Amino acid sequence: MTRPTLTTSAGAPIADNQNSLSAGPRGPLLMQDYQLIEKLAHQNRERIPERAVHAKGWGAYGTLTVTNPEIAKYTRAKVLQPGATTDLLLRFSTVAGELGAADAERDVRGFAIKFYTPEGNWDLVGNNTPVFFIRDPYKFPDFIHTQKRHPKTNMRSPTAMWDFWSLSPESLHQITTLFSDRGLPTDVRHINGYGSHTFSFINDANERFWVKFHFKTLQGHRHWTNAEAAEVVGRTRESTQEDLFNAIEKGDYPKWLMQVQIMPEEDAGKHWYNPFDLTKVWPHADYPPIDVGVLELNRNPENYFAEVEQAAFAPKNIVPGIGFSPDKMLQARIFSYADAHRYRIGTHYEHLPVNAPKCPVHHYHKDGAMNFFGQVTGAQNAYYEPNSFNGAAQDDRFAEPPLKISGDADRFNHRDGNDDHRQPRALFELFDEGQRQRLFLNLAEAMWGVPQEIIERQLGHFTKVHPDYGAGVRSALETMTREKASETAQQQKMPQGVEAAE
Ligand code: NDP
Ligand code: HEM
Repeated sequence: MTRPTLTTSAGAPIADNQNSLSAGPRGPLLMQDYQLIEKLAHQNRERIPERAVHAKGWGAYGTLTVTNPEIAKYTRAKVLQPGATTDLLLRFSTVAGELGAADAERDVRGFAIKFYTPEGNWDLVGNNTPVFFIRDPYKFPDFIHTQKRHPKTNMRSPTAMWDFWSLSPESLHQITTLFSDRGLPTDVRHINGYGSHTFSFINDANERFWVKFHFKTLQGHRHWTNAEAAEVVGRTRESTQEDLFNAIEKGDYPKWLMQVQIMPEEDAGKHWYNPFDLTKVWPHADYPPIDVGVLELNRNPENYFAEVEQAAFAPKNIVPGIGFSPDKMLQARIFSYADAHRYRIGTHYEHLPVNAPKCPVHHYHKDGAMNFFGQVTGAQNAYYEPNSFNGAAQDDRFAEPPLKISGDADRFNHRDGNDDHRQPRALFELFDEGQRQRLFLNLAEAMWGVPQEIIERQLGHFTKVHPDYGAGVRSALETMTREKASETAQQQKMPQGVEAAE
């Protein structure tokens, strides 16, 4: 087999890629060895900033196939019309860990999908949980600072986490999910995905519906206990990558049933819960899930860095027939992601192959670093609009119906009159005795070492959700205290080891 000739990045053939150019066999080196310098310089630029959150991730390509004709009543989005099959990229992730974090950690899993639709990319950047820790984006940087490393110890800080959570009772629903069995899945084939926010659908008659997206795993749910996960991390830090990559390589393609909950526009405001509050679900009894179709993952990326690390998912990316909602968290996310992408990847990140839409693109953004895509205005030399040269122009067929908004501009206290206990209670009541005991233990382990005042504040919240909840965590903490005390006593009684004796 003939090999291609190695070249410089400028295309010139390279005669020797083993020995640097030196003055005599023992050196020193000559500055003229530009290929050595190029190799070192490129190596220095191999890293881009990791994602500020969701840094550790696993990705694969696949398709969404829509099977239910009923969905067309609610949306005109081509990607959701019956019979449509759309290519997609799905990136799963953990939230808090850095790029090299172990996979088998208790954390929310990201579930970010980029649908390459004929009307542009639709990104649904969700999680494996239907709700979130906070409901006002003003608190997002504060919340994330509690999940990341302590400025002095450079370690994760349970005190910071529980201090913030115990002062933010809207987190109770998500905390109950995170410390339940589903908070530590064995891998990402065995998790559900949720769009989490309320979005909108617009149909052919220009009617608006509120919508929530669900992806139910068809592999079933699987999780590890903390102890099992610790053993897994001791064996491999890449358990999720191995599981997903190997399943796809051997043709065992994971699948999810896509479902939506649909709320008529005028229903918003009729319930005890705000349908745009990200700490709440819409109970299935109010809005039963409707099947849409099946999402399948069936192809591994060829180059992890180019196709997964450089992938840019942004809630701003919607397509005709799918819109936003007043959810404050969603509103902030519409801004935040593209801003992160310009910083993390570069100005023209949307033209990289993994991010580029698979449909014609016309815009008037001009120049900028690494502009490699030439003229996309549709008009020769016109980088302005309107123009007289047949450049791309707006099309009012894609206008959404107006959304009625009213009220005073103010900073409204989002906790006023908001019931943060009822839905966590519904979740707690779904758990059987074994699930409850594991929840108590997981929480006690996570709260261990946190100042008592913070623990008491948090136990007060659990008790308001359900008396058994507060009592269960308290009892697990007391058992841990006794066990740790007896361990310490045992250690003190034991003879000193050889090293200690010396
Ligand atoms: P339902 O009984 O109709 O639905 C229960 C939902 O909870 C199902 O989606 C189910 O997902 C999920 N679920 C079941 N067991 C667990 C578990 N151990 N851990 C996490 N989720 C679980 O009740 P409601 O719709 O009234 O919701 C009750 C509570 O269920 C909510 O307060 C919320 O905490 C939780 N939930 C609700 C969802 C919703 O969209 N309504 C979505 C997910 C959770 P699955 O079918 O995959 O087992
Ligand atoms: C990643 C911001 C809430 C899911 C990110 C990133 C930022 C961010 C800046 C990194 C993006 C990148 O560098 O590519 C925010 C802000 C939030 C918020 C400001 C709230 C105001 C949420 C919520 C969800 C979510 C509620 C899920 C429902 C994700 C996922 C990723 C991510 C899945 C990883 C995407 C990927 O795989 O590339 N977020 N986030 N985030 N976020 Fe959020």
